[in-house]
Amino acid sequence: MRPPAPVLARLRIISGIILFLYASCHFLTHASGILTAPAMEATSRVLLVPWKGWIGHTALYGAFTVHAALGLHALWRRRHLRMSAVEAWQLGLGLLIPLIVIRHAVSVRLGEMLYGLDDSYWRLLAGYWLPEAGINLFLQLLLLVVVWVHGCIGLYRWLRFKTWFMARSHLLLVAACLVPVLAVIGIAIAGADIQARAAAGDPELARMTAVAPEVAAAARAGLGPWVECLTGAWVLLVGGVLAGRLLRDGHARHFRAVRIRYAGPAAADGGETVVTVPRGWSVLEASLSARIPHASICGGQGRCSTCRVRVLDGRDQLPPPRAVEAEMLRRIRAPGDVRLACQLRPLTDLTVQPLIPPGARFTGAMVEDHTGAAGLVGHAREAMVVALFTDLRASTRLAAERTAYDALYLIERYVDVVTEAVTAAGGRVTGIAGDGVMSVFGGTGPVDDVPATCRAALAAAAAIWDGVEALSAELRHELDAPLRIGIGVHLGPSVVGTTGVTAPRPIQFLGDTGNVAARLEEATKAERCTLILSEATVAGVVAGGRGPGPAELGRIGHRVLDIRGRGGAIAVRIVATRAELDVIRGHRPG
Ligand code: FES
Repeated sequence: MRPPAPVLARLRIISGIILFLYASCHFLTHASGILTAPAMEATSRVLLVPWKGWIGHTALYGAFTVHAALGLHALWRRRHLRMSAVEAWQLGLGLLIPLIVIRHAVSVRLGEMLYGLDDSYWRLLAGYWLPEAGINLFLQLLLLVVVWVHGCIGLYRWLRFKTWFMARSHLLLVAACLVPVLAVIGIAIAGADIQARAAAGDPELARMTAVAPEVAAAARAGLGPWVECLTGAWVLLVGGVLAGRLLRDGHARHFRAVRIRYAGPAAADGGETVVTVPRGWSVLEASLSARIPHASICGGQGRCSTCRVRVLDGRDQLPPPRAVEAEMLRRIRAPGDVRLACQLRPLTDLTVQPLIPPGARFTGAMVEDHTGAAGLVGHAREAMVVALFTDLRASTRLAAERTAYDALYLIERYVDVVTEAVTAAGGRVTGIAGDGVMSVFGGTGPVDDVPATCRAALAAAAAIWDGVEALSAELRHELDAPLRIGIGVHLGPSVVGTTGVTAPRPIQFLGDTGNVAARLEEATKAERCTLILSEATVAGVVAGGRGPGPAELGRIGHRVLDIRGRGGAIAVRIVATRAELDVIRGHRPG
């Protein structure tokens, strides 16, 4: 029986984390070579000891075997090899790692097990830097870079939609760049140390690297075949999987094929395009393999619904939607003949009509699909954004006490204050409903700069706060009491894109983030404060290095609030005064 995908995904993550931890310990040990070669040896006894002994070896080699096997399994399971550049790098580097690591592992581990060779850093460094080292140093540096980049891509793809991760993305990026650079510098400095010691005839080096000539000869003769054998086995495995894919797909196309007809704009010349794919492929995979443009903002994870299709023919034989698809179809209130192309794996022929046109072909078009639901196309992407929602308190009473024109004038002045503050801070107003104004920060560049986005949102909040106070002062003769506002700010993932018929098309963001910001604003009434920030937003500011210290932050009210419609509580900061907002922004008096 095939294990369920979540189990395999979890195994892949766990084994990847173990390997990444091991690589980190290894590279930090390399980095300690910046001090001296003996320091490197001493660090290895601290950081690498947990990886020795049967527990460490089982964890390390077990994780390596599982991760490599799952990589091959994923390669086998992929319906087509069209993928993003990041995915291609991750896969390519992952397949390359065993080719390089086998030589290193055989020399160190089997050398120790079979020939009693010392696995100390002294011997390793001598193996890289002394004249007989050959290409060992080059291979070691290549291995370091390949392993690190592969691991970082894997971690990024796994964690990129976690708020805490993106809030610290700058720090983590710096760490991700520093570790391999320091490791290379450490290897170079320790290598120079080893060379100097060798030239000076250092007795300690001679003792640590001494190997009886007959043992060295036996190890050379004995370990070489292991390297060739294991390398050949890996090449055969990868080649076998690729060849197996060709055979499988060829066989399936001929004997277990499903024909998918595309009707509507996706079909050539508005007629009907037919794609033949093996049974088990999703409709989206069929589209991509045949280069039929097909909207799929979330990349086929069942999270965006942009791949939805109407099944025109063959609906009766379709497998029922599984949990992810059923939930999404329920949320978009899809009629019974609409399915998600990324989740639908037909077993018999069918005819489909993609409902959301891919953005490149419909730039400027109102995105309203055949189910009647508006969606996002064009260059929409998932991004970490900050939503800021502002509301004018007691606006109903304010309106009731005035003429309609006067009330409109007041609301307009308030909306102007908010809009100017948001725009000046680099955000966009995405919606105005009465006196409620929703704005978004971030999500428009190619890369999320979370700390800068959080700082911009807080700058806007401060400007709104000041602006409304100034407006109150200006209109004090017309108001019974100063204007009061509530502001909610939250950092989280959203799909950001554009909608509308007029140019420039307004930016919109979809997802839970705006809803949370609106709920936080609502909570300002019960908390009797002006501003509530989610802890994620504060963490984003702090991660940029310009926020408050722990002691300053500790003086600002902390709560855990239940958010209606979210199914979970959220940690927040209650900002009661303008001075507290400045503290969170890292603006210290004087
Ligand atoms: S591609 Fe996003 S739900 Fe199918």
